[in-house]
Amino acid sequence: MVAKAKIRGTGSYLPERVLSNRDLEQMVETSDEWIVSRTGMKERRIARADEFTSDMGIAAARAAIEDAGLKPEEIDFILVATHTPDYLFPSTACLIQKALGAKKAGGMDVQAACTGYIYALSIAKAFVETGAYKNILVVAAEKLSSITNYKDRSTCVLFGDGAGACVVSAEGKGLLIESIQVGADGEQAELLMLPAGGSRLPASLDTVTNGQHYIKMAGNEVFKHAVRRMETACKECLDAVGALEKEISWLIPHQANMRIIDAIAKRFEHLPPERIFKTIQKYGNTSSSSVVIALDELLKAHTVKTGERILLTAFGSGFTWGAAVLRAE
Ligand code: ACO
Repeated sequence: MVAKAKIRGTGSYLPERVLSNRDLEQMVETSDEWIVSRTGMKERRIARADEFTSDMGIAAARAAIEDAGLKPEEIDFILVATHTPDYLFPSTACLIQKALGAKKAGGMDVQAACTGYIYALSIAKAFVETGAYKNILVVAAEKLSSITNYKDRSTCVLFGDGAGACVVSAEGKGLLIESIQVGADGEQAELLMLPAGGSRLPASLDTVTNGQHYIKMAGNEVFKHAVRRMETACKECLDAVGALEKEISWLIPHQANMRIIDAIAKRFEHLPPERIFKTIQKYGNTSSSSVVIALDELLKAHTVKTGERILLTAFGSGFTWGAAVLRAE
């Protein structure tokens, strides 16, 4: 019998320090009014100087493993979605594996920018369903403040730090991962990128002086692609399980911009606004972590009844996009 992959536990971690729109007004030429009306963001969290992506991932992972009723020793594999790893190598997955004491687990990082969690979830689902592993820890963690230029008002108001995690298991009760769709199109790679620090432009005095270690984004171009791709991914994912839009009880879109969320929400007219789960106002865009942080908060704040479906969707640099349909058992 083919094992069924389910999300058996979730956890999240947000740093304590709050960076509000009022704080940003003191740093760049912007206003609370502009940020709220263009993005829906009020504040975001910023990690301490001595707090790294792995630290946030470890905290979220511990919470998810406990929520799943497991011990770190029972984890077979660790996937970490991040594009702000502690190091280019070793992987952040290895740092998290050591800190947790997950002695029998292999691990690797997954880089699909803001869609990283959905990509990692799709790998975990496949690993569980082929019988390769029983318990997989999926972490999404980002210290975006480490690659954000706080002199560039077009990007610095958008991003925040944080981590989320879940355990995907063959056993136990949880949210069945009914279907996952992921996609990519490298044609628009340059619209959203971190230009330097890789093999094409290794770190040098010039790359630092030219600010090439910071996020570069053509915001309004990215905006159009994000709406179109997430809408299509949601539709394909629902079609794959023969589910109708009206059969979705909760929608968790990537928390990149309130106007993008509203555009996707229009597809789900039967869903009252409170069923479109948002954390954007308090955490901003935490990239790969955004969907799983929101999923953890949703599950802690609300009872999801047996048979109810949750739809996740994300979009990011690459471009990459994806969606997943979860059904409560
Ligand atoms: N405060 C005040 N004015 C600003 C600010 C700011 N923080 N930022 C930009 N402006 C100005 C611009 O300079 C411009 O002024 P001009 O008309 O005089 O030239 C004006 O506001 C409009 O700028 P736009 O970029 O056209 O503003 P837009 O309405 O597109 O909003 C935003 C910008 C919020 C970035 C939006 O385009 C967006 O959310 N894009 C999508 C981001 C996204 O989805 N990213 C996904 C993944 S992220 C990842 O993978 C890491």
